Amino acid sequence: MVAGERNGARMAWAGKMADKLLGKKISPMGIGTWGMGGWLIADRSNDKDDTKSIRIAIDNGINVIDTAEMYGRGHSEEIVGKAIEGYEREELFIVTKVWPTHLDRKGILKAIDGSLRRMNLKYVDLYLVHWPSPIADMKIVMRTMEDLVDNGTARGIGVSNFGVAALEGAMEESKRHGISANEIRYNLLDRSAERDTIPFCEKNRIKVIAYSPLARGKVSGSDALAEIAGRYKKDVVQVSLNYLMKRSLPIPKARGARHIKDIIGAAGWKLSAKDYNKIKNGEPGR
Ligand SMILES: NC(=O)c1ccc[n+]([C@@H]2O[C@H](COP(=O)([O-])OP(=O)(O)OC[C@H]3O[C@@H](n4cnc5c(N)ncnc54)[C@H](OP(=O)(O)O)[C@@H]3O)[C@@H](O)[C@H]2O)c1
Repeated sequence: MVAGERNGARMAWAGKMADKLLGKKISPMGIGTWGMGGWLIADRSNDKDDTKSIRIAIDNGINVIDTAEMYGRGHSEEIVGKAIEGYEREELFIVTKVWPTHLDRKGILKAIDGSLRRMNLKYVDLYLVHWPSPIADMKIVMRTMEDLVDNGTARGIGVSNFGVAALEGAMEESKRHGISANEIRYNLLDRSAERDTIPFCEKNRIKVIAYSPLARGKVSGSDALAEIAGRYKKDVVQVSLNYLMKRSLPIPKARGARHIKDIIGAAGWKLSAKDYNKIKNGEPGR
């Protein structure tokens, strides 16, 4: 398939891409890939289905794909690379991450090379430090991350799992390009990020990317949300993601057409302020 051939289908949803990150239009949610291609080691047994799932997501308008060198020891990135073949590169927003054991200059340069090779890309849109490391020298880490923007292998840089203090440290060392995003756990069973981290990111124009937005699937069992969902003719997953979208870019991992179409239904409508606040102020939440 040639680049752009599948583009027509995807463009149908483009009108909903109101948000921009690093100058590129992004869908209101992305797709996560933790577990696609294995967990801590590569597992090739679901490659065909995983590749297809990512393609279904793109065909339904999702252009943000989140992966990491650590997922399936790089095999998740290989699946992403395979899945995005034939799409317009410029229309996709690819996020990947460097693992904490690689947080020195040599390690970061080697890690991004490996990620680009596995995904068959010339650049990633966002390159994140996966977790803070107590032993890494943030001056060197952030200088190297910024060099990736300068040499064109990353369009932007950011962090993941950083609280306010760690973020302040990273920001101090990245004044040339700045921190564009912080990827953190944020879901309706764990809204602790709303206390400090999200307000800090909002104040500093750092995009919040919400990982495990479905609490690894547990959110779908919430009775408290079912009543609200019923009134919107939506389901609990859709209400949860809609809530999160107000202050973040959720990246649910969904496999198969049924789950993917379900998460897509979380966008394109809005919870009323009253219902939003009802969820915010009550259970489930804290
Ligand atoms: N930066 C980090 O440290 C970090 C940490 C964790 C995760 N992440 C990223 O965030 C992504 C999402 O987080 P996650 O994978 O931990 O968990 P998640 O997205 O909260 O939940 C995934 C689970 O929800 C299920 N699911 C998906 N759509 C559903 C639907 N419509 N109805 C019911 N269940 C549904 C999935 O099942 P199926 O697979 O069967 O669809 C899967 O079991 C990851 O894949 C990864 O890219 C980043």
